[in-house]
Amino acid sequence: MQNLSFYDYHPTLLNFCDEVLKGLSLPQKKFPPQFFYHDQKGSDLFNQICKLDEYYVTCTEIKILTQNIKEISNIIGENCLLIEYGSGSVDKAYLLLDALHNPYGYMPIDIAKIHLLDYAKTTAQRYPNLQVIALNADYTNNIEIPEEVKNIKNKVIFFAGSTIGNLDYEDAILLLKQSVHLLEEKGGLLIGVDLKKDPNILHSAYNDHEGITADFNLHVLENINQELKANFNLNNFSHYAFYNPYFGRIEMHLISKISQEIKVADQVFNFKAGESIHTENSYKYSQEDFEFLAKESGFKIAKKWSDPQEFFALYYLTCE
Ligand code: AVJ
Repeated sequence: MQNLSFYDYHPTLLNFCDEVLKGLSLPQKKFPPQFFYHDQKGSDLFNQICKLDEYYVTCTEIKILTQNIKEISNIIGENCLLIEYGSGSVDKAYLLLDALHNPYGYMPIDIAKIHLLDYAKTTAQRYPNLQVIALNADYTNNIEIPEEVKNIKNKVIFFAGSTIGNLDYEDAILLLKQSVHLLEEKGGLLIGVDLKKDPNILHSAYNDHEGITADFNLHVLENINQELKANFNLNNFSHYAFYNPYFGRIEMHLISKISQEIKVADQVFNFKAGESIHTENSYKYSQEDFEFLAKESGFKIAKKWSDPQEFFALYYLTCE
């Protein structure tokens, strides 16, 4: 394919075994949230979550994008290089690519090589006039852009889904600062941010009635069983997600229902009844919080779009 190039930056993947053993040895046991997407079933469960009514996040962001797509593509302008952090949100990226004025190219950055390659091929076929530059890299590391696109003036990063919410404040600032660097202090960042709201609504979004979020959370244990010859019994753990107003975040945990011993890769870990493994944080921002974070990182607020209920915001931040 002529309109496709692939760069392998050889990102260092978190070592599943090391991270699990390290996480289980902490006083507050924890796993990195990336492990939810460790296999196809995990990604499938997340896609199912995105379709739930209770999980307003995905459909609200898509609605905001759709309803303002003309204004968004006008503000982005001609000949842009659209850089996407991650490459899971096909619907959103294609919505943008369909509407942008004469985009120069599209550069998804993803740590998952096989998935990225598949996605890049499909996208290059779908948009034969678009240059697709796939970057197999970790976008949270400070990355340098390939030479072939270095001097494209209009670079725009797209960071959808409120994935920024997985990061603690310091890491969020760091990622935004690195984004300013990647954009060479020109261009913009189009970013989706989940907003603070009635905690009951947040609670429902992470405690859906069908129990998909519970399955998604518990599935991490299944992966550990398979890959690290562990003996987690999923029936002895329960999904626990709640909104912590002090930290402004949803916390997801797996709670041990009983006192038990679990063997993982020949090491034994003790669980007290009621003890938790912290599996994810999902920070929610007030508009003031987020705008402060953006400015601290060197961005200006060019434009904000939201839904009538102000559940979610899509920001266009610029460097200059
Ligand atoms: C993909 C990190 C944005 O935090 O809402 C969904 C992941 N976890 N339900 C989020 C998630 C539980 C999601 N992010």
